[in-house]
Amino acid sequence: SQKWILMTTAQTPTNIAVIKYWGKRDEALILAVNDSISVTLDPQHLCTTTTVAVSPMFQSDRMWLNGKEISLSGGRYQNCLREIRSRASKIEDEKKGIKITKKDWEKLHVHIASYNNFPTAAGLASSAAGFACLVFSLAKLMNVQEDQGKLSAIARQGSGSACRSLYGGFVKWVMGNEENGSDSIAVQLQDEKHWDELVIIIAVVSSRQKETSSTSGMRDSVETSLLLQHRAKEVVPKRIIEMEEAIKNRDFPSFARLTCADSNQFHAVCLDTSPPIFYMNDTSHRIISCVEKWNRSEGTPQVAYTFDAGPNAVLIARDRKVAANLLQRLLYYFPPHSDTDLNSYVIGDKSILG
Ligand code: PMV
Repeated sequence: SQKWILMTTAQTPTNIAVIKYWGKRDEALILAVNDSISVTLDPQHLCTTTTVAVSPMFQSDRMWLNGKEISLSGGRYQNCLREIRSRASKIEDEKKGIKITKKDWEKLHVHIASYNNFPTAAGLASSAAGFACLVFSLAKLMNVQEDQGKLSAIARQGSGSACRSLYGGFVKWVMGNEENGSDSIAVQLQDEKHWDELVIIIAVVSSRQKETSSTSGMRDSVETSLLLQHRAKEVVPKRIIEMEEAIKNRDFPSFARLTCADSNQFHAVCLDTSPPIFYMNDTSHRIISCVEKWNRSEGTPQVAYTFDAGPNAVLIARDRKVAANLLQRLLYYFPPHSDTDLNSYVIGDKSILG
């Protein structure tokens, strides 16, 4: 009888969109109504580590998230597993006595253990890092011979934003035209070294789970918001071009203007949805006001803000000095243990915390 276990581990950071994805044109395949652009965070913060194992001793596919077993029966997991399995190729390791043919992969079961290095309850996007890591580690385990772009299209079927986490730096998710989604993939615009002066600070406004999931929120927006139609057709295509240019030239004023405007339009679409969706709260709004006032008083933007499907602020400072100043301001305006206390996470430069 065969007693071997083969395993592999991968680590994937989460990403934050600066031009947002909001709305699907195909729900099953997860195809977006517009392109989006994101920045992938430093791997030492907000990342998922996933170990996948395969063995003839395993009776079924199983998965544990932060040590607790979760069900793999959902369509998103099944799609990722099926797509990766169908591309598995043979492995032969004579020394270890392991031989797996392409046919064997159809019958072999996997065990998956995934950990987030940040509190899952903190309401910070975890599905992006999670699905990207799942797909990447399974592809390694099963000796899948596909490029990153192809893998990103598989991760996309787990969670749309996950496709962008397969690359570091600045990443674009091209919505594509094909009905089967084969050209709806992520591409790297610039690598992680391109603009490393930027410091990202996440102000955790609330650690409560969001009330409206992105899936049902997007569905309602696509069905009811005219602003979404306008945004997808008229606004985002131009912004994508401008944002690519701003990133290429490390043009912070343009980058900040586009990032803030796009976050605000995404939340305007949420408000334009029936029933309306409120992801930001009073503290989020106060943070926006503080940043807007500060940027105006300096004459040129120092900090960009962006909010996803929740009240937490992602703040992007133009450099370390501004980031230190920003943290001081956050602590001053939102003192610890007050009604609006914040729990700040610093990404990109730990030394500022000290
Ligand atoms: O990939 P999802 O279903 O978690 O949707 C993500 C949507 C936003 O975070 C709000 C925007 C984005 O582009 O990441």
